[in-house]
Amino acid sequence: EQINKGKYEHYMQKEIHEQPESLTTTMRGRLIRGGSCKVKTVLLGGLKDHIKTIRRSRRIVFIGCGTSYNAALAARPIIEELSGVPVTMEIASDLVDRQGPIYREDTAVFVSQSGETADTLLALEYALENGALCVGITNTVGSAIARKTHCGIHINAGCEIGVASTKAYTSQIVVMAMLALAIGDDAISSQTRREAIIDGLIDLPNKVREVLKLDQEMKDLAKLLMAEQSLLVFGRGYNFATALEGALKVKEVSLMHSEGMLAGEMKHGPLALVDENLPIIVIATRDACFSKQQSVIQQLHARKGRLIVMCSKGDAASVCAGGSCRVIEVPQVEDCLQPVVNIVPLQLLAYHLTVLRGHNVDQPRNLAKSVTTQ
Ligand code: AGP
Repeated sequence: EQINKGKYEHYMQKEIHEQPESLTTTMRGRLIRGGSCKVKTVLLGGLKDHIKTIRRSRRIVFIGCGTSYNAALAARPIIEELSGVPVTMEIASDLVDRQGPIYREDTAVFVSQSGETADTLLALEYALENGALCVGITNTVGSAIARKTHCGIHINAGCEIGVASTKAYTSQIVVMAMLALAIGDDAISSQTRREAIIDGLIDLPNKVREVLKLDQEMKDLAKLLMAEQSLLVFGRGYNFATALEGALKVKEVSLMHSEGMLAGEMKHGPLALVDENLPIIVIATRDACFSKQQSVIQQLHARKGRLIVMCSKGDAASVCAGGSCRVIEVPQVEDCLQPVVNIVPLQLLAYHLTVLRGHNVDQPRNLAKSVTTQ
């Protein structure tokens, strides 16, 4: 059933819409709601013999390419917060190019949907040679990365056929949020926070079902943007990754130039691009960075920027005060899970832009689902 399109026209469309179910499968059997002592926790069978080593490692290094790298970037803040272990990020090819330092005391986490990406595999071999504990997060049982790592977590998102990764991205973030919970499981000080995240995870498929209702709205937005040359996406904090991933989706399938940018860097160059024509999506959902994003919106208004603001439900009027903008309102969830909700409208936008511009949705030119050559 997973490999036919059912009622959908394209695999990418089907895979976007099946995210409530794929997320449910990713979490199945892994969230423990608490027994007699009422403690909520997570169970990651593949890591049970290694979690203490990960907790004690000197550093956690996330390694991946493209969307898988972006998923790790989205999870980085919650891993740092709950583990207290420094987290660094590596694009697989860059780590190999630099022969960057990897130590025996490191935990190296390899994130890959296919488990076969050549750059990620090479980085894995390099990390194994350097003695790090290697953890795989893949969607393919028996894949090279699943086999060669010391331990790992299968994301269970189901077969993904569209070249543009969609449901694997959201399942990867959820798995890494669960990894953060498992590493931080021994800290009493963060128990309330961890329980709130577990409650958020349990409700996440419903929130994704809710945000999928924006489909027609995103199609209308795509109609408005389809003739544009370029699109910018600004995010920060948990949603810097959303900006990168949203822009990657738009460029790889709709073939429209698109860049995701860290909003904190706006004044250091990108601001020069702003005028009344260039469409800019600003992600300004509620979290610790919200007031900073409000100030970014004000600065863009002052330059007559053409803004599309993604905000939490109920914030439409306040985020656009001081100028005109189009708004995408999304349900609010626990801050570390918000990237899972926020990427969905951007996946829908990329999909509709592609159909309207007449490009191949599931097999974009020059791209392969799994990049097995360097
Ligand atoms: C995602 O939409 C892309 N097709 C691409 O960036 C992909 O995520 C990257 O090639 C990594 O693939 P992997 O997850 O299978 O390793």
